[in-house]
Amino acid sequence: MRKLTVNVKPPYDVVVGRGLLSNAGTLVSQVMRGKRALVISDSNTAPLYCGGVCEALRDSGIDAYTYIFEAGEENKTVKTVWDMLEAAASHGLTRSDAIVALGGGVTGDMAGFAAAVYLRGIDYIQIPTTVIAQSDSSVGGKTGCDLTYGKNLAGAFKQPRLVIIDPDTLGTLPQRYRSDGMAEVIKHGLIASAELFDIIERGSLDMEDVLYRNVDIKRSFVEADEFDTSERMKLNFGHTMGHAIEKYYNFTGPSHGEAVAMGMVIAARAGENAGLTKKGTADRICSVLKKYGLPTLTEAPAEKLVQIAALDKKRMGDIINFILISDIGRAFIHKLRADELFDFVKGAFNG
Ligand SMILES: NC(=O)c1ccc[n+]([C@@H]2O[C@H](COP(=O)([O-])OP(=O)(O)OC[C@H]3O[C@@H](n4cnc5c(N)ncnc54)[C@H](O)[C@@H]3O)[C@@H](O)[C@H]2O)c1
Ligand SMILES: [Zn+2]
Repeated sequence: MRKLTVNVKPPYDVVVGRGLLSNAGTLVSQVMRGKRALVISDSNTAPLYCGGVCEALRDSGIDAYTYIFEAGEENKTVKTVWDMLEAAASHGLTRSDAIVALGGGVTGDMAGFAAAVYLRGIDYIQIPTTVIAQSDSSVGGKTGCDLTYGKNLAGAFKQPRLVIIDPDTLGTLPQRYRSDGMAEVIKHGLIASAELFDIIERGSLDMEDVLYRNVDIKRSFVEADEFDTSERMKLNFGHTMGHAIEKYYNFTGPSHGEAVAMGMVIAARAGENAGLTKKGTADRICSVLKKYGLPTLTEAPAEKLVQIAALDKKRMGDIINFILISDIGRAFIHKLRADELFDFVKGAFNG
């Protein structure tokens, strides 16, 4: 087992290790002040892992209750969060009790949000079970749900009390979610660690090591900028155009990871064309993405994507913080006016 501490107020540990799920009881009881825990999971994850986790909690003297919701981003709604709150109340959770989020990013985001507002805030523990959740979303305290107007439009910053990462749970994860998550893992290498990128490029990954490195990268961005006003924006590498691609297809086309993969290639090529990114970087990114089953080219038209991206940013003023890398492992924020975006990216859409 390897351990990292995220130094925010109050600090919390992230433990990474194969087989850790069976130690969940001991680990959770070390941070619990009360006796009751509501384990929140989705309909795919619960049948696989909920029984084991609850048993481990009960063995450590914790009264474990469960709340299971229907899996899927379409259920990442205020209604589901509301049902979680009702479940917490029905089991009599008090200020000293805790919520345990067992599942992917959808579960963690909503369970964290429920913990942020239940009795004006109780502790929660993340037990992530997807690549996205283990490498990214379980750490950092961004919680929330979607509204009909867009994704993640309601939420709160609420850091977990503990994060338990067991890479063995990825054994049951369907392949498409695995490659989806790898896009963010590759992104972490690109923005912050040439060493991680090299490891990924070489292949045959030791996931425990890869996830540990990812969490360490996420940790450093969160510590530098907990509320996402500066340094943390670098985590959006590939996301400006990636989000636009997802929206262009009305969220029924490429998955988030696939869209981010294409967005990273556009950002790297645009950077190369502007002389801001080392030559050859985009090609190197493309070959790694292909290796992990991710797309590198979008068929969506540049003009439309730029329109969508610019519209997206209108609410934040006219400036787009477009994330670039100067070289693998080194990200920086490139400020652009919305009306400069098309010229900046237009040459980045071909092979
Ligand atoms: N809070 C953050 O900082 C942050 C960062 C990135 C993404 N996110 C959010 O994360 C979500 C995407 O995360 P995700 O891909 O984990 O989605 P998800 O939670 O929907 O999980 C993907 C699918 O895998 C299933 N699943 C989960 N673990 C499994 C396992 N071990 N074995 C078999 N099946 C399993 C789920 O039921 C679901 O069908 C989005 O809503 C996104 O907004 C949040
Ligand atoms: Zn993302």
